[in-house]
Amino acid sequence: MLSLVKIAFFLIIVEWLSRYLRQRPNGPRWRDSDCATPPSLPSRDAFFNLDNVKDMLQTLAENRRIRSIYEQSHKYGWTHQWWPFGTRLIQTSDPKIVLFIHAIEPEKFGIAPQRENATGPLIGHGLITSDEPIWSFMRPLLKPIFTRTQISDRVAFDIHVSRFMDLLPVDGSTINLRPLLESLILYASSEFIFGESFDSQMPIGERDPNKSIDSRSFIDAFNYGMKEVGKRIIFGKLSFLIRDPLFWSSCRFVQDTTRAHIERVMRQIHTSGNQPTDTEGSRSKTTLLRELLEKTQDLDVLCSQLLNVFFAGRDAPAIALTSIFFILSRHPQVWAQIRQEVQGLQPENLFFEKLKSLRYVQHTISEVFRLYPPLANNSRICLQEAILPSGGGADGTSPIRVFPRDTISVSYYTLHRRADFFEDPEVFRPERWQTLRTTWEFLPFAGGPRHCPAQQLALFWIGYVVVRMALRFRELKNMDPVNDFVEEVKLNLQSRNGAIVALIV
Ligand code: HEM
Repeated sequence: MLSLVKIAFFLIIVEWLSRYLRQRPNGPRWRDSDCATPPSLPSRDAFFNLDNVKDMLQTLAENRRIRSIYEQSHKYGWTHQWWPFGTRLIQTSDPKIVLFIHAIEPEKFGIAPQRENATGPLIGHGLITSDEPIWSFMRPLLKPIFTRTQISDRVAFDIHVSRFMDLLPVDGSTINLRPLLESLILYASSEFIFGESFDSQMPIGERDPNKSIDSRSFIDAFNYGMKEVGKRIIFGKLSFLIRDPLFWSSCRFVQDTTRAHIERVMRQIHTSGNQPTDTEGSRSKTTLLRELLEKTQDLDVLCSQLLNVFFAGRDAPAIALTSIFFILSRHPQVWAQIRQEVQGLQPENLFFEKLKSLRYVQHTISEVFRLYPPLANNSRICLQEAILPSGGGADGTSPIRVFPRDTISVSYYTLHRRADFFEDPEVFRPERWQTLRTTWEFLPFAGGPRHCPAQQLALFWIGYVVVRMALRFRELKNMDPVNDFVEEVKLNLQSRNGAIVALIV
């Protein structure tokens, strides 16, 4: 066993070394070309950049990783590079490069080398783990479902929002909204994806005894799996060294439970002659599973699709809502203006189009997404040699040649705070969106063919909660002794302290 590990290490190091020698600045591939390398982060360890790796881990542990990328970008350039463990990583917040990798030559920049092995055991191969050909098979199955849902399912979402509102204290006592928002979005997203809400934390009497998923065990196994996935992404090829039977049993549990649930719904549809049998009687709910079943009966495809979407969608809206209330509790005048805009509205009229027409609410949401995009950093792995349009040379204007397995990492956080695109970029000012027009400088949902398919659904959920809260609470007081946003990065950027507030009716 030990010798196998040694051989694997040896092969990996030989591969790194040969790639480094081929691709290093001034190596043979760079001569006779108008391409230039971007500025590099200084390092005492030219080969593995271990000092910078240590720095990265330290900034992560100190909850300032995203901010430190922002600071490095100001110091070394909007596009700069470094070599963590000997593999090139180009860090950028240049909209020309972002446009290029997301939309001009997206087929040359993928995600599978980074995510497929790490996440495959938990969620299978699907939209958020794979590149061609799996991605182009999966994407058209999914996209239209999100479009229909956003318009039709206000009632389904309102049930969860009403329960959330019932849990809020109205006596002015202090509450952290983050855990309640997480539960709200978990219930809504699981209901939309699986057709069953994971509302296991509801009072016993209110739970539906007919549910097929043991949601507490499912969530525990899924959370454990996700935590380990993070480690496996960092370990990359060396993740076979992580011996963790609990990871594998958690993955098996998640997969088996999802399959059993799909089979149960298939049998149900078969026996009921395709009539919806949801617990709310006559109303037909749009759910991802039922819509997908009209397109395929392949159990592997269905299982991966559901788990991939659950992985992508169950956290981000709650994180965005927490950031919104974090900021609004520190800007009472913006809260007052939102309340003025929504005055007189009834929850039953809050359809998608109505929410979209609330300009100030929308501008506020955009402004929070600008300052705290849930996906603050987004990476692509180069699959084929390509030439990025800019970022090279001392002034950052020369093209950059990139090679297979280089990582291009986009900091949306830094991009959204560039003073050349946003006046007073650090200031929270929803009014700026009255006149601001953006293209590739503002990308909370990414862009190009892989942009978030659930963007409209997420914006509907977020707008709906903000308006319901504004209709109910006259004041949203900040009760957090720490005034600044403290970052916490798992897969997404979130407020470490949540949103600690007092609500005044
Ligand atoms: C505030 C909420 C959300 C934000 C900010 C957000 C943001 C994003 C971003 C930036 C991407 C691109 C990722 C990449 O390029 O690798 C993405 C992809 C994706 N999102 Fe979202 N998302 C949100 C909510 C949701 C929800 C609620 C769902 C599902 C219910 C969802 C499902 C997906 C899926 C399936 C993809 C992969 C698309 C593909 O690769 O073709 N997202 N999202």
